[in-house]
Amino acid sequence: MTEAILDRLRRLRILPLIVIDDAARADALATALVEGGLPCAEVAFRTRGACDALRRMSAEHPEVLVGAGTILTDGQADEARRAGARFIVSPGLHPRVVDYCQAHDLPVFPGVCTPTEIGAALEKGLRVLKFFPAEPMGGLAFLEAVAAPFGEVEFIPTGGINAANLASYLGSRRVAACGGSWMAPQAWIAAGDFARIRGEVSEAVRRAGLTTAGP
Ligand code: 3PG
Repeated sequence: MTEAILDRLRRLRILPLIVIDDAARADALATALVEGGLPCAEVAFRTRGACDALRRMSAEHPEVLVGAGTILTDGQADEARRAGARFIVSPGLHPRVVDYCQAHDLPVFPGVCTPTEIGAALEKGLRVLKFFPAEPMGGLAFLEAVAAPFGEVEFIPTGGINAANLASYLGSRRVAACGGSWMAPQAWIAAGDFARIRGEVSEAVRRAGLTTAGP
C-alpha cells in the first residue's frame, strides 16, 4: 500500500497543499487540479470544513489521490482515514499518529528537520519524511547536508516552495516530491478562482519537467 502511494507521489512530483473551509468548493477544486495536471491533494486539517472537503473530493473524484495534512492526533488520523484519506502528513513526528497509521496500513509522512528527528523516524521504520519548514530551515543545501548520514531516506520538502525554487528541489535524489500551497492558496479557493488555480498548477507541472538531475 505505502509503496503504491509513494510511487504515485514520486511520479506526480508535486503535492498541492489545500486549505479549504467550504466543502461545496471541493468538486471545482478537484476538477482544477486534474485539469492542471496534478490529480492529487493534501487537505490540511486546519479548518472546520477540511474533513468534509476531503470526503467529497475522495468520493466524487476517485481519480484524485487525496490525503490529509496537519494531522496532530491519532483521533484526527482516524477521522481522515474514515473520510477517505489515502495518506497522512503531519508537521512533526507525532508517535501516536505514526502508530495509528502503521496499524491501519496507511502511508504516513511525518515532518522532520533535524538529525535526531530523522533518526527517530527511521526507528519507526519510515523512509520517506516531510521536510518542514524547508526554506526557513535553509532549503535544499540544508536538506542535503542533514540527510547525508542517513542512507536511503527521502523527503517531501514543504514550507516556502514555489514556482521559482521547485525545479531545484526536484533535481535532488533526496526529494520524492515537493509540497506547497502556492498553486492553490486559501484565498483563491475561497474566492472560487479555479481558473487561476488550474493555471498555476499547470505552470508547476511545466516547471517540474524542466528539472535536471542534481546531486
Ligand atoms: C505546510 O504545512 O506544509 C506548510 O504550511 C506549507 O507551506 P507553504 O504554505 O509555504 O507552501
